[in-house]
Amino acid sequence: MLKIVVCVSGGGTNLQAIIDGIADGTITNTEIVGVISNNKNAYALERAKKAGISAVCISPKDYETREIFNDALLNGVLSLKPDLIVLAGFLVNIPPQMIQAFRNRIINIHPSLIPSFCGVGCYGLKVHEKALARGVKVSGATVHFVDEGTDTGPIIMQKAVEVMQGDTPEVLQRRIMEQAEWVILPKTIDLLANGKILVEDNAVYIK
Ligand code: GAR
Repeated sequence: MLKIVVCVSGGGTNLQAIIDGIADGTITNTEIVGVISNNKNAYALERAKKAGISAVCISPKDYETREIFNDALLNGVLSLKPDLIVLAGFLVNIPPQMIQAFRNRIINIHPSLIPSFCGVGCYGLKVHEKALARGVKVSGATVHFVDEGTDTGPIIMQKAVEVMQGDTPEVLQRRIMEQAEWVILPKTIDLLANGKILVEDNAVYIK
């Protein structure tokens, strides 16, 4: 059984897709052992509680320095003994010590086709604002392993989504969530839980 911790910051629709995927059998062999939010007001925390999953807030605001927060975050994760950490809209820089401790065992969902519209400062709705400003006709979502860079780790899965004339950032965001994010994140977790993903020299192979 793959034990996962899901890290969240906001609405938690991707967390919900994981909870639903486990319930309906889209995701097999997987258990959510905890949810961690950096934001005490995140609706994702409510979703976790409703599903009977233990959920805690570990906020940088409650710690004197970033280093102390980083230690608290790592200890919070370690105490849950996960096999995999899923960043589902988690808008916090992952401490280097956590990346080292969980090499190729942290995955992130990003709402664009990496390497477009990603990197430092490009997250959430901003991604879709930039895509629309550039006038792309196709965008999408990417699931990737997390390394020391921002959105630079090995790509596991991507799904393209059409941009429509008249899209607002909010409308495009919703379409990408529905058609891509809520599909490829559960799918990736299921593949990982069943030993079907291999990483070699930064390249990902699906068996
Ligand atoms: C999602 O669109 C996710 O891809 C994005 O934040 C949103 C969280 O929504 N993540 C990033 O931009 C990470 N760089 P949710 O809380 O409803 O899952």
